[in-house]
Amino acid sequence: MDNFAFIIHPLDPKRDVKRKFPLLGRVLPVPAINFLSRFFPPLYISHITGVRSEATGKEVEGWFVACPYTPQRMLTLPPETVYRKVIATAHLAERLGAKLVGLGAYTSVVGDGGITISRSVNVPVTTGDSYTVASAVEATKKAAAIMAIDLPRATLAVVGATGAIGAVAAELLAEDVPQVVLIGKRLDRLAEVKARCEKAGAQVSVTNDLNLLRQADLVLTVTSALEAIVEPQHLKSGAVVCDVARPRDVSKAVAEQRDDVFVFEGGLVEIPGPEASFNFDFGLPPRMCYGCMAETIALALEGRYENYTLGKDLTVAQVKEIAGIARRHGFKLAGFRSFEHAVPETEIERLRLKAARGRSLL
Ligand SMILES: NC(=O)c1ccc[n+]([C@@H]2O[C@H](COP(=O)([O-])OP(=O)(O)OC[C@H]3O[C@@H](n4cnc5c(N)ncnc54)[C@H](OP(=O)(O)O)[C@@H]3O)[C@@H](O)[C@H]2O)c1
Repeated sequence: MDNFAFIIHPLDPKRDVKRKFPLLGRVLPVPAINFLSRFFPPLYISHITGVRSEATGKEVEGWFVACPYTPQRMLTLPPETVYRKVIATAHLAERLGAKLVGLGAYTSVVGDGGITISRSVNVPVTTGDSYTVASAVEATKKAAAIMAIDLPRATLAVVGATGAIGAVAAELLAEDVPQVVLIGKRLDRLAEVKARCEKAGAQVSVTNDLNLLRQADLVLTVTSALEAIVEPQHLKSGAVVCDVARPRDVSKAVAEQRDDVFVFEGGLVEIPGPEASFNFDFGLPPRMCYGCMAETIALALEGRYENYTLGKDLTVAQVKEIAGIARRHGFKLAGFRSFEHAVPETEIERLRLKAARGRSLL
């Protein structure tokens, strides 16, 4: 059978360790989990079953395997040390028979975005970032339509615009939005992304000042920061905010203090196959997963066993191609979720009315 494996790792140390080891998760404090994660071996997590293409009827199976490092460990250990553990995890996937390995969350953020890792693995590797971009951009446009934000008159801000996901997401959205603010830490690299967005048709400014987020009707935020960076004072009333980062970029204080902005998790997708099951609770409802997981599964359904997305320089063409492949096999945008909960239709309607009232008062 065609198949794939996907490497996950704990994002929220206590919560995620508890999912696999309830006792350890309960008794160990976070610093101890961060410290001990270095000494844990790669782990088999679950067998993924029942994923079926709507286009061809083909079924694929897969496996979740886990690299034990926490985000704090991934970003503070030397990249070579992290690579070694991710490669060992990929080798576990190979022993299970995987024909393609997807790199989840920080396993693709570290270093060169999977290039070095792929050289030591005998099967193709993908970061899944192309479909993460496709699904986040689609969700952002859908949310804008719900909130009656007219794209040809809107201002977009992308936070983390120099990153693998941020740069190409900005370029894609610049095809539809005339004003783009690129926010990042490195102004030289921002200039490169600015040129790409201008070519797509937008007027672009660059900054390292998060306060300029207040200009934006649409925000896509996707940094690799360990702590939340978008705070209540940064957002314009009525704004749509797509948070693609894991862990989240948008602070919980935004949920508590701002009932006039629509914040949702970007890159969430429903997989095809009525019986599809991950056989592991990683915090999303059944049949829902992250874009990076969905890319890996879609490639297996398509029989495209190749290093599809590697490195930090993604292209718009790649993103559009994987979006087409995934759509054909039946992957769909999942319902909106915000701060770990589904956003009910009633709440979306309340936000829509509030934004409309706010605009009519201007
Ligand atoms: N939802 C999904 O399906 C999904 C899938 C894959 C990845 N992700 C998440 O997406 C995020 C980004 O991934 P990526 O592959 O694009 O990573 P990346 O290429 O390393 O880019 C991260 C960007 O964030 C910036 N950054 C880091 N810390 C920051 C801070 N404190 N303030 C402002 N900017 C900061 C970096 O700037 P410098 O380079 O200048 O440091 C870089 O531009 C991660 O959180 C990852 O877990 C989500």
